[in-house]
Amino acid sequence: MKKFPENFYWGAATASYQVEGGIENTDWAKAATEGRVPPCGRACDHYHRYESDFDLAKELGHNAHRFSLEWARIEPREGEFDMEAVEHYRNVIAALKARGMRPFITLWHFTLPLWFSESGGFERKDSPQVFARYAAFVAKELGTDLVGISTMNEPNVIGSNGWLRGSWPPFKRFSLTDMVSITNSGRTYEAKAQKGIKNLWLYLRVMKNLARAHNAAYDAIKAEAPAVEVSVVKHVIFFHANWNPINKVIAWFANYFWTSKFMRRTYKKCDSVGLNYYFHKKFGDKAVYEKTDMDWDIYPEGIYGSLKLLSKYKRPLFVSEAGLADEADKYRADYITRQVRAVWQAIEDGMDVRGHMYWSLLDNYEWALGFEKRFGLIEIDYETLERKVRPSAYVYKQICENNGLFPQN
Ligand code: BGC
Repeated sequence: MKKFPENFYWGAATASYQVEGGIENTDWAKAATEGRVPPCGRACDHYHRYESDFDLAKELGHNAHRFSLEWARIEPREGEFDMEAVEHYRNVIAALKARGMRPFITLWHFTLPLWFSESGGFERKDSPQVFARYAAFVAKELGTDLVGISTMNEPNVIGSNGWLRGSWPPFKRFSLTDMVSITNSGRTYEAKAQKGIKNLWLYLRVMKNLARAHNAAYDAIKAEAPAVEVSVVKHVIFFHANWNPINKVIAWFANYFWTSKFMRRTYKKCDSVGLNYYFHKKFGDKAVYEKTDMDWDIYPEGIYGSLKLLSKYKRPLFVSEAGLADEADKYRADYITRQVRAVWQAIEDGMDVRGHMYWSLLDNYEWALGFEKRFGLIEIDYETLERKVRPSAYVYKQICENNGLFPQN
């Protein structure tokens, strides 16, 4: 049997905006009223149904659960904190503990309070202090209830979708084709190109501020709750290459810009690091992969290389998210099994991995793609809000309950 270390954490993850429902005071909610992203509405109504959702997770053998706090609920106006919201999350934490599940919490998972985004968000020079003030408040109120806190989710995804691709708030875009147009004499092209350059510059500033915000939040949390383990949740794309040395160099640079650059700025202020793994890119690869409903390659083995990339910072690691959109539940069981096997191999090879959270416990709001993509171990009927456990969830249950994989896997 491929056994995992004792006390290994098994579970699934969610994020507040994607499942809770009823959150109106964020940049995403505003973008929805402008028709730029789909509305989120009541989502899975997890805000009111978290107890029964956790019952299901427990039945599915989970001993941990990752979720995020909604910053906009806790700090609805700058510097003003809502004690009712804190009470809600205190109850959520207690509900997990009552079921023997360790809470892994994230302070901020993509959505910003409107007052913050409208005043410049992470473009603001003082944004690290603004974020640290929120972190300090949470640590003071909830620190004693918690073992660990992750400061932020996937800083690179925020930066690239918000300031390079322009697909997420604040919808700023930098594209090389616009840059090429600078040589085109048309005024509109020039204006576009100038805007693009400004956005690139803003992107670099935001990435720096996000790293500073994590570091400031680390200090703020430690000042309030020294025993709490602080981490960052890092999205890693595993860039690798075929035999060709040029492709190997390209992969090295891609890993540097996507993963190492941010990690180098923050790892000293990390007690552990969370890995979100979804995809890989192999330069010079001719293989044809089956695809998830997101059209991403089915390649769960890439989690090994991603863990390896993070392991060089010599911090304990946990898989904070990894999973796939698969409405038909055709690939999920096999995908999870292969992914878990790769994590097991990483541990066998000396990497210090302490937990595995599948994304996601429930189907949920997949950001700019709305509710169509289905990542859940549990299916949601958005009309009736009925929950239905998918067959693959029972395969994962076996892994969780056995703390490992049977030899044939
Ligand atoms: C994010 C989740 C998202 C998932 C699937 C991760 O990058 O943290 O919020 O739903 O990927 O796209």
